[in-house]
Amino acid sequence: MGIERIIDTTTHKDDQEEQIIEKTLRPTNFAEYIGQQRLKNNLKLAIDAVKKRDDGTALDHVLLYGPPGLGKTTMANVIAHELGANLHVTSGPAVERAADLASILTNLQNGDVLFIDEIHRLRRTVEEMLYSAMEDFKLDIVIGKGPAARSVRLDLPHFTVIGATTRTGSLAGPLRDRFGIIHRLEYYKEPEIEQIINRTAKILDVKINPEATKLLATRSRLTPRIANRIFKRVRDYADVNGDGIVDTKIATSALELMEIDDLGLDPADRNMLTLMIENYNDRPVGLNTIAALTGDEPSTIEDYYEPYLLQLGLLERTPRGRLVTNKAKKHLNML
Ligand SMILES: Nc1ncnc2c1ncn2[C@@H]1O[C@H](COP(=O)(O)OP(=O)(O)O)[C@@H](O)[C@H]1O
Ligand SMILES: [Mg+2]
Repeated sequence: MGIERIIDTTTHKDDQEEQIIEKTLRPTNFAEYIGQQRLKNNLKLAIDAVKKRDDGTALDHVLLYGPPGLGKTTMANVIAHELGANLHVTSGPAVERAADLASILTNLQNGDVLFIDEIHRLRRTVEEMLYSAMEDFKLDIVIGKGPAARSVRLDLPHFTVIGATTRTGSLAGPLRDRFGIIHRLEYYKEPEIEQIINRTAKILDVKINPEATKLLATRSRLTPRIANRIFKRVRDYADVNGDGIVDTKIATSALELMEIDDLGLDPADRNMLTLMIENYNDRPVGLNTIAALTGDEPSTIEDYYEPYLLQLGLLERTPRGRLVTNKAKKHLNML
């Protein structure tokens, strides 16, 4: 992908400031973690039960899924913190061989949490090793090669896997079945995004008035990561063009500069929808065709851009492809 989009929900990996800010803003306990009340209630109960039992059993494995930027990684940190457990962090693509997983697993201690981001991208052989590790806390490894090879079974400590994925559909059934707690993160409500913006303003020591907070919340795609990113840009704008205080006027001008419209769409979103309408009008369009139209990877469209457009009802998924709705045409003045 070429230019970085302000509304894209990945972490901008080459932006060091963004990474530092993400770290300082990341809530570390349930009290600071705003919204997702149902998830928090379920987890609190499960964590309290583990603590009360205190018999060496670990928290059930937890699978968190949903669009990027909604707080999966953050929640993994919160869970480990609330358990008072060590957190080990890895990701599906990072574990290249079964031996890599074996070394991670044998370094765990009782009660530890292993966070596996993008768990749908684990390799087959690694995933298969994980099955018995998660189910029985046993590790089957093969020692030696050829006719002399033999398999041994090692005992592992009782640990908790927290898996995060943007797609449960791509997760193998047997893997999914090993999670006792499976939860979808939902888009946030606007008042919750307002709370997140106010919290961020406080941490970064920036003054913002309530109307400006409200305005930014309506443009943030109901996603904390985007709310924080937009806030940071607006703060910069206020520093340069005002006295550092974020009011409605400053917020409005900054949003105009970023070309984020009143639904939170940016030029690339509008471009994609426009191309679909112009070329296919009322016919469904396949994901690969959309990707060819915009020049993006199909997975980028599917994981990062489409979920919010579906949530808003600007796109619909049909068995034959994506359909642009009348709501989208109206929004773009193309009805
Ligand atoms: N519930 C929340 N309350 C406050 N801030 C949040 C919340 N969820 C996410 N954030 C903020 O959004 C950023 C992105 O969240 P993250 O956990 O990395 O999302 P994901 O892993 O789902 O892509 C975090 O750095 C954090 O500052
Ligand atoms: Mg994450």
